[in-house]
Amino acid sequence: MSNKNIVWHDHHVTKEERSQIKAQKPCILWFTGLSGSGKSTIANAVESKLLELNKHTYLLDGDNIRMGLNKGLGFSDEDRIENIRRIGEVSKLFVDSGTIVLTAFISPFQKERDAVRGLVQEDEFIEVFIDTSLEVCESRDPKGLYQKARNGEIPDFTGISSPYEAPTKPEIHILNDQISIEDVTTQIIDYLKDKGYLLA
Ligand code: ADX
Repeated sequence: MSNKNIVWHDHHVTKEERSQIKAQKPCILWFTGLSGSGKSTIANAVESKLLELNKHTYLLDGDNIRMGLNKGLGFSDEDRIENIRRIGEVSKLFVDSGTIVLTAFISPFQKERDAVRGLVQEDEFIEVFIDTSLEVCESRDPKGLYQKARNGEIPDFTGISSPYEAPTKPEIHILNDQISIEDVTTQIIDYLKDKGYLLA
């Protein structure tokens, strides 16, 4: 379909104005890691802490988004790429609204994570690698999915029968096998404070 009759409209209210009124610098905290690595748990804890600090946030979460916006997408490489592409575009809109957006998706491919990074300004994308070993994820198995994948009941399962490309240069690297949620949350909030994302 041709886009030639579509014209981008600039809004009267700017991203800077929307951000200023929220006393923050918007960004995407992009959590990536294996299923069961703790992405959602950590993103939830960080969002709660940001709320305590009166910050404006929104959390986009893998399972939830796949029940709505991305209903119908599966776990082939192609579908995962489209999953992340859409999340990237939605995240960009949230950034434009002045919001701190947290995303919790496996997002297994570096190329797609880099593509999202390329959608926003350089300092608006913070890649957070939740580095939990496959052994630990599999022993936790909170949804019983690893067991099913090992039994051959789930095809293309990340870490088992589908690849996970660990980030090469994440802004934040959490070695999550032995660290407490409180310590991880503090590490991420301190990063945001130090780099000037949280104003006033
Ligand atoms: S991604 O690879 O496209 O980024 P996403 O984060 O949206 O994945 O969804 C991952 C979640 O879907 C997992 O936490 C798990 O609960 C569920 N899931 C179901 N099938 C699979 C699969 N084949 N591989 C990985 N996760 C799966």
